[in-house]
Amino acid sequence: MRPEPYRLRRLPEQYFTALLARVAAAAALDGEPLIDLGRGNPDVGPPAHVAAALGEWARRADVHGYAPFAGLPQLKEAIAVRYRDVYGITIDPASEVAVLPGSKTGLMEFAQVCVERGGTIVLPDPGYPDYQSAVALAGAQVATLPLAADGTPAWDAAPRAADALYLNFPSNPVAVCAPDGVFAEAVDYARRAGAWVLHDFAYGDLVFDGRRPASFLAQEGAREVGLELFSMSKTYGMAGWRLGFAVGNRELVARIETLQNHQFAGIFMPVQRAGVAALTGPQESVEALRATYERRRDRAVAALSGIETHSEGTFFVWLRLPDGVTAELLLEEHRVAVAPGEGFGSRGAGWARLSLATADERLDEGLERLRRGFGLG
Ligand SMILES: Cc1ncc(COP(=O)(O)O)c(C=O)c1O
Repeated sequence: MRPEPYRLRRLPEQYFTALLARVAAAAALDGEPLIDLGRGNPDVGPPAHVAAALGEWARRADVHGYAPFAGLPQLKEAIAVRYRDVYGITIDPASEVAVLPGSKTGLMEFAQVCVERGGTIVLPDPGYPDYQSAVALAGAQVATLPLAADGTPAWDAAPRAADALYLNFPSNPVAVCAPDGVFAEAVDYARRAGAWVLHDFAYGDLVFDGRRPASFLAQEGAREVGLELFSMSKTYGMAGWRLGFAVGNRELVARIETLQNHQFAGIFMPVQRAGVAALTGPQESVEALRATYERRRDRAVAALSGIETHSEGTFFVWLRLPDGVTAELLLEEHRVAVAPGEGFGSRGAGWARLSLATADERLDEGLERLRRGFGLG
């Protein structure tokens, strides 16, 4: 047997694949049907006009060849309009936007275009597990930015010099929005440490309690030090479509486009056209989706009263497990799955992430089982 290249061997276990396998194995055992509140897979799809646009464009004869590798200019213009109208930021669509096959790809590409082998990438703890994969693929090393339960970063604990920093507000899994001043602190840190910044804005529009979406790029100096990733997956319920953007620093946008020119051959044009329809058409579905998750958040927090919970945005609730309760135990004895906090970093131990991307009745049944598991009645 020829050994796998080290590039693959140093990849961490894919957290979500492992989690899904564990839940599937538990579901196959005898007992009442399992309720999966571990998975963040949106259960609400895109609005009808977006699916219709895909169908209409797909029926044309002239859209089935290779798409322009850099993406359609109309799509770049559409995201620029969204940044102007919703986040109050002017961006140049030609030089400050790269079109991505989903923002997950951007997470990997950012490390590739910013960090030399052996470099240092600072990741939030707790944080989204795929960031670890980006570090491994780049042959870099991880340093940690500890986050308090309210999302406040402990900047003093981050290394004095680093090559890149990943940030994510609203945060998966901690479900907090950017604390006041945190983007200014990130720009300061980037300048001091010589690091590029990636702000993962995947849940940008899913904010609760009257908060307004807050883009990193609205921070003075942000564009000089980094990029923001915008995802169509959550805002428009288009997770399976694979469409996202890297927005901001033009040098990094150009580097990402260079990398993509070698690695991909564009994105199916009808998907991009439907993306234009989503970004520039009626936006009622975005508010409806946001309100749905906020309503489910309210139900979850009410059902779990007595337990420490956080959820200012995203479609997750981050909760502290009562002493003696583990995600494993909830799965085995109460047949309800949550994502174990330690999968998001060592500071996640003793916590769990519950997903609100679950139909109401199943969510209610899952919450009832959690209440039993937590001894709440
Ligand atoms: C924090 C975070 N970033 C990025 C992504 C990737 O999103 P996309 O579907 O745009 O690749 C996800 C998906 O769940 C996520 O939770």
